[in-house]
Amino acid sequence: MARAPYVSFAVRSNDSAGFAASRRVFAEDVVRVVTADVLAGRLPPGSRLPPVRVLEQQLGVSKNTVQSAYDELVARGILETRERAGVFVLGPAAGVPEASRIASPPPMRVRPAPPLHSGKIPRDAISLSTVFVDPELLPREKLSDCARSVLRSPGLESFYDVLGYGPLRELIAARLRARGMSDVTAANVLVTTGSQQAIDVVARTLEVRRVAVESPVYPGAKLLFESHGLAVTGLRLDPFAGIPLDAWEDALARARPGVLYAITSYQNPTGYSYTSHELATLIAMAERHGVALVEDDWGSDMLSGSEYRPTLRFLGGPNVVYINSFTKKLLPSLRVGFLVAEGSVMPSLVAAKRLSTLGNPWLTEAVLAEFLDRGYYDAHLAALQRELDVRYARCLDLLNETMPQGVRWTTPGGGPTLWLEVPRAVDLAELRGRLAERGVVVESSDSGFDGPPHLHGFRISYAFLPPATLERALRIVGDALREVNA
Ligand SMILES: Cc1ncc(COP(=O)(O)O)c(C=O)c1O
Repeated sequence: MARAPYVSFAVRSNDSAGFAASRRVFAEDVVRVVTADVLAGRLPPGSRLPPVRVLEQQLGVSKNTVQSAYDELVARGILETRERAGVFVLGPAAGVPEASRIASPPPMRVRPAPPLHSGKIPRDAISLSTVFVDPELLPREKLSDCARSVLRSPGLESFYDVLGYGPLRELIAARLRARGMSDVTAANVLVTTGSQQAIDVVARTLEVRRVAVESPVYPGAKLLFESHGLAVTGLRLDPFAGIPLDAWEDALARARPGVLYAITSYQNPTGYSYTSHELATLIAMAERHGVALVEDDWGSDMLSGSEYRPTLRFLGGPNVVYINSFTKKLLPSLRVGFLVAEGSVMPSLVAAKRLSTLGNPWLTEAVLAEFLDRGYYDAHLAALQRELDVRYARCLDLLNETMPQGVRWTTPGGGPTLWLEVPRAVDLAELRGRLAERGVVVESSDSGFDGPPHLHGFRISYAFLPPATLERALRIVGDALREVNA
């Protein structure tokens, strides 16, 4: 049976100033205090008093002391005992006054919610722009095997390590060394709740006021930097033209950001991948202008043809802070990502994570470590990429077949999405509306631009949709484009 909480009162001793603890409490103290509180209205009619065993413990007295105080108060007509319900102040009210009847403090003053995507995939529509991978391609059974194996181990670890589960950090470091980042050890690896927390940890520690990002960029990074009070300079990225290195250098010289955050492989949202020349030039520019580099490498291991793409971290060395995640490639719900940083900045990054979460749940990290250790991850990536390559090729064929004149698309050759650029004459909001009516959802990328968008389109996810569904969706998009552009 649901009961209103009891009404708590303090029993002070009868001497000058002390609380109960300063002197033994007697039954007459309880009688005196309750009587006074009832008369003063502090214990309104109908209030439930603490059960005898609760008050006995709170006051550090015997059960008999409390019971005889309550008996006396009942005898004086101040309290009543109700069968199986407890001891109440005599009176008509049914229970404790509701909080709203006492007073209502103002709501907390908060900043408006940033325009973030909910992360939810609509079930009754085709989600054409999502960055997730088709769940059918994800190794849920093998992960469950690993979870069972971890749970069969002798007992749960009692303590957490703010850096993350040690064996997982060792395995991540070994993977990165195998990719040529030869200096990385577990001491450089901080495990995070997805790469989102890695970006958050970086943003919390920055002693600079301005961050440069690509424009457009993954909105979750831009909005996060801004939420930490950092100014953001957008570096214009046209995925059809490559990186305008001179313009970027001018922007760095003018805006003087302390950090440049770059998504160097299969950039979200454009699908663009930096060439080695662009990576090397960026590193030289960063050195010239005193700009630290943070690389979000969300995509380089959604590799095509089994070759990892080059990274800023590989070419630029340990000062480049490197971020990656298992969430897209393994299971979004795992929420495990990591960052890699050089020794002198690690204490600040680690402290930022500690302040935020103290430490992350050990169990998931242990399951992931088991998955990596058994070699399942490499086998999974290879199989996943084979399938993504097939879906990507099919997507390009379909685009050629279904898109009207004037529509262009990027050809990332890896990662989960490409960018579809439609003619300027197309009203994107109207197009989105028409598509939604036909059960196809495309996301706006506007919040990832710094200023008015210079691109006019949206992401196409060939990784999420089974080919037949993708075909249906692209035919609908092609038809709708012809209608709105007629
Ligand atoms: C480029 C990029 N970085 C980071 C994230 C954050 O992802 P997660 O926290 O799942 O690793 C995303 C999410 O879509 C992303 O697109």
